[in-house]
Amino acid sequence: MKLSFWRFFLLFLTIAVTGANVIGSVVWYVLFRAYGADVLVPLTITANLVAIPILAFLAYVIQELRRSNDDLSGTKENLDVHVEHLERLRETERKQRTELKRTLSELSLARDISESANRAKSEFLANMSHELRTPLNAINGFSEIMCKQMFGPLGDARYIEYAHDINESGSHLLGLINDILDLSKIEAGMFELKEEAVDVAKVVNACRRIIRERAKEAGLTLATRFKGGLPRLRSDKRAVKQIVLNLLSNAVKFTPAGGKVTLQVEIDEDGCFSLTVSDTGIGIDADDISKVFTPFSQVDSSLSRKHDGTGLGLPLTNSLVELHGGTIELESELDYGTIVTVRFPAERVLDDPAKTGGDGVKASAAR
Ligand SMILES: Nc1ncnc2c1ncn2[C@@H]1O[C@H](COP(=O)(O)OP(=O)(O)OP(=O)(O)O)[C@@H](O)[C@H]1O
Ligand SMILES: [Mg+2]
Repeated sequence: MKLSFWRFFLLFLTIAVTGANVIGSVVWYVLFRAYGADVLVPLTITANLVAIPILAFLAYVIQELRRSNDDLSGTKENLDVHVEHLERLRETERKQRTELKRTLSELSLARDISESANRAKSEFLANMSHELRTPLNAINGFSEIMCKQMFGPLGDARYIEYAHDINESGSHLLGLINDILDLSKIEAGMFELKEEAVDVAKVVNACRRIIRERAKEAGLTLATRFKGGLPRLRSDKRAVKQIVLNLLSNAVKFTPAGGKVTLQVEIDEDGCFSLTVSDTGIGIDADDISKVFTPFSQVDSSLSRKHDGTGLGLPLTNSLVELHGGTIELESELDYGTIVTVRFPAERVLDDPAKTGGDGVKASAAR
């Protein structure tokens, strides 16, 4: 048994009292023999009067010691409960950590599987697209020769019409295959930008020429604005052209007759090269905006259903912009129109004294 402080104290007290009694008895006997009872009676009374408060004080001290000992035992019990609780917590935490580790390793395995499946899909698409492009080039090339009747007249006018249809369909299919090929290359991390100093104004003008006819046929006003003299942009020219064409063709496609499509090119306040295509078209519902950057997803509205398309334009545009380290932002309101802003980072803006794209504002209209 452990000897606590107050037990030790009690033991000491008992020994001391016993010792004092023994010594007192001896002294009392010696004094009794020497002086007799007359001296001893008052002495004994005085000794008792002194002893009573001392004993009361000792009783109080003992009681206090007991109480503090009880308190200590209570605290110890509380501590034991806390320690037990902490140990249980530590055990739970250990279990959770093990569980987390297992979930992480399962997730990492699932990610590896999905990445390898994705790579396989991209490789398959890339191979398929390559295989399809070769015969398509022949179809497009020969149908063009027939359209132009390069080796002599075709005879019946319907042959020319059919050859024209073949050529248009072939070109459409080729465009689609090229989009799929580009997207799968980007997904597989195999798309390499061919960077050069690109005169964006020239690229925009070339795109405008391509889109102008479509805008005219659709009864739209097409305007391009170059704000200030534009420096050149370190970028992939083909990718920039594709970005501009995709955005302009969407704007023209989804804007009803009488509407307006505007393309604005400028260096914004952060020094980024910014391209903004805005239209007064059908717009996109707020709930659907997040869908439009997912491949093959098209927003199901009556007017967008009227137009053909595969839903690859915006995802491809987004990926091409991301490859350049840029951002794309789409704001839209149903029945009011859409604004798409592409920003290339300021580091890509070349500090070129030969500014291009004209100065001030240059605008053109398709009708
Ligand atoms: N300017 C716009 N106005 C209204 N809706 C738009 C606009 N641009 C895109 N969208 C919506 O986003 C969808 C996805 O656009 P995306 O360019 O990816 O595909 P698409 O134009 O339908 O087909 P593709 O570009 O492959 O020919 C469109 O189907 C359309 O519903
Ligand atoms: Mg499109």
